[in-house]
Amino acid sequence: MEPGSTNTERTQDTEHEVGGLSLERQHEHVVDFQPFPHQLQAIMAPVRRVALIGGYGSGKSSGGAWRLLRLASLNPWTPAYGATRPKGAIVGPTWRILKQATLTALDAAMPRNWVRKRRGPPHNDIWLANGVVLEAHSALSDIEGQNYSFLWCDEISHPNFNERILGTLVARVRDPRARFLGEVFTGLPVSGWVRDFLDHPPEPRTANYGGRWTIMCKTSDNTELAEESKAAIAEAVPAADIKTLMGGEWASPIGAIYQEFEAREHPLGNLTENAGYLDRPIDLLGLDIGESGAVCFVQKITLEAKNVIGQKQNVEGLLFVDQMVTKARSVDEVCYEIKTSKPWKIVPGITRICVDPTTRRDERNAIKAHFPGCKIIQRERDEPTYHVEERIRTTRAALKDALGNRRVLFSRGTMTGVKHGILDALERARRNERGRRIKDDLRDHAEDAASYAICEGLPLKITSSAPERSGKFRAMRRR
Ligand SMILES: Nc1ncnc2c1ncn2[C@@H]1O[C@H](COP(=O)(O)OP(=O)(O)OP(=O)(O)O)[C@@H](O)[C@H]1O
Ligand SMILES: [Mg+2]
Repeated sequence: MEPGSTNTERTQDTEHEVGGLSLERQHEHVVDFQPFPHQLQAIMAPVRRVALIGGYGSGKSSGGAWRLLRLASLNPWTPAYGATRPKGAIVGPTWRILKQATLTALDAAMPRNWVRKRRGPPHNDIWLANGVVLEAHSALSDIEGQNYSFLWCDEISHPNFNERILGTLVARVRDPRARFLGEVFTGLPVSGWVRDFLDHPPEPRTANYGGRWTIMCKTSDNTELAEESKAAIAEAVPAADIKTLMGGEWASPIGAIYQEFEAREHPLGNLTENAGYLDRPIDLLGLDIGESGAVCFVQKITLEAKNVIGQKQNVEGLLFVDQMVTKARSVDEVCYEIKTSKPWKIVPGITRICVDPTTRRDERNAIKAHFPGCKIIQRERDEPTYHVEERIRTTRAALKDALGNRRVLFSRGTMTGVKHGILDALERARRNERGRRIKDDLRDHAEDAASYAICEGLPLKITSSAPERSGKFRAMRRR
C-alpha cells in the first residue's frame, strides 16, 4: 500500500492515541504506561522546540520518544511529497547510546502497528505506516543537505554534542511541506552551552516564530521508579551532583571538579606498611605515559558503607597504595622502573593494567613483555562510560557518593605531598567558565591514570536502556 488517503484517517487515530492520556498498545501487547505530568507537558507543548531536561531516570527519553511519535503523527505523507517521504531525525551522541537508550525508549513507546519496516545499516531507519521515515543518526554522522520535519536529540549534554553540531541539526528542520516542524531535546541539566541554548522562560508560538519550552524534571518525578533503583542511583551519583543528576537542577560547573575529595579525610595513615599490604598483589595499575606521565598502584579492599536506610554493609573499595610521576619516559622505561624500583607485586592473571585510549600497539607490546599474563585494559575514547566527563563522574562518585560513602582511599605515606601526583591533581583540577576541564599537562596525567583505574575497579553504570515489562527502571553498578 502506498502512503495515501487512508493515512490521513490513520494519523488522526494515532494522534488521538498519542495525545490522549492512555498509551495502551493495540493487538499483541499492552503497556501499562501513563505519561507522567512532565512527560505529558512535553508531548502536548504547542511549540516547535521542546526540551525535557532532568535527573537520571526521570523519564526524559521516554517523554522525548512520545513527543517524537506525536510529531510523526502530525506530519504524515501527503500528495505534496510525491515519491519522497516526510522525514524525522533521531540523533544520539554515539551509536551505542543511540541503540542502547534512545531507540530502546522509542521502541517501548511505539505502537507495533505503526511500524511498516525497519532497515539496518547503512540506512538505519524506521518506516512508519503514515509514510514518515525516522532516521537514526549519531552526533558524528553527516546530515548536511537533508530536510527534516522534526528532530529529536537525546543526551544533549553529552560532550559529543556542541553548539556547532546543534546549529547544523536545527537548520535541517525546515521541510516546507511539513504541517508542524518540531525539535525535541532531552538530557541532563549540565551547564555550559546546553544551558545557554535551553535555559529560557517559555516562549509561546507566534506567527513567525515556533516558540520554545524547557521542562525540568527530577528523578523522583518518575513515580514508577522502585525505591531500590533510586537508592542505586544515589549510591552511584557523586555527592555534590545530587541536585543536578537527581534533582534536575542546572549545575554550575565552575570551580573545583572533585569537590568530594577532602585531603584530610581520604588518605589513610600508615596502613600500607602495617597491614601486610606489601604482600598482596596489585589489582589495578593505571598508566598514562607521555612527555609527562603518571602511574598508580591500586589494591582492592573491602569497606563498610551505609545504604539508603542507614544499614551498614560491606562493599568493594580501592586503596591507592603508591604512585609514580614520570617525565619524558617511554612506556618501556616506565615498566622497567616499576619492575626494578617498586616493591609491589604485579601478578599475571590478577593485575589489570589500565592504559589510556591512545596507547599504541608497540607500547602495549612493551607492557606485555614486562608483565606477561597481565590483562591490558584499553578502552575507546568514545565509549559512553569512558568519556572524560563520565570518568570524572565515576571518580567523584567513588570518592564520595550521595550517601556519603567513600570507596577510594589513599595511603598517606606514598600518596600525599607529591608534586603533580594524584592527590595534588584531584585537589587542583578545575573547570573553566564554560565548564570544560582545564588541562595543564602537568597534573592531568595523574588524574587520568587514577581515573582509568577507578573506572575499571568501580565502574559507574546507570542504565535505563532495557525496558522491562513492569516498566521499572533499572539502575546498577556494573561489576
Ligand atoms: N510514564 C511512565 N510510566 C512508567 N514507567 C516509565 C514512564 N516513563 C518512563 N518510565 C520508565 O522509567 C525508566 C526511565 O525512563 P527513561 O529512560 O525515559 O528516563 P531517562 O530520564 O531518559 O533516563 P536516563 O537518565 O537513564 O537517560 C525506564 O525504565 C522507563 O521505561
Ligand atoms: Mg535517557
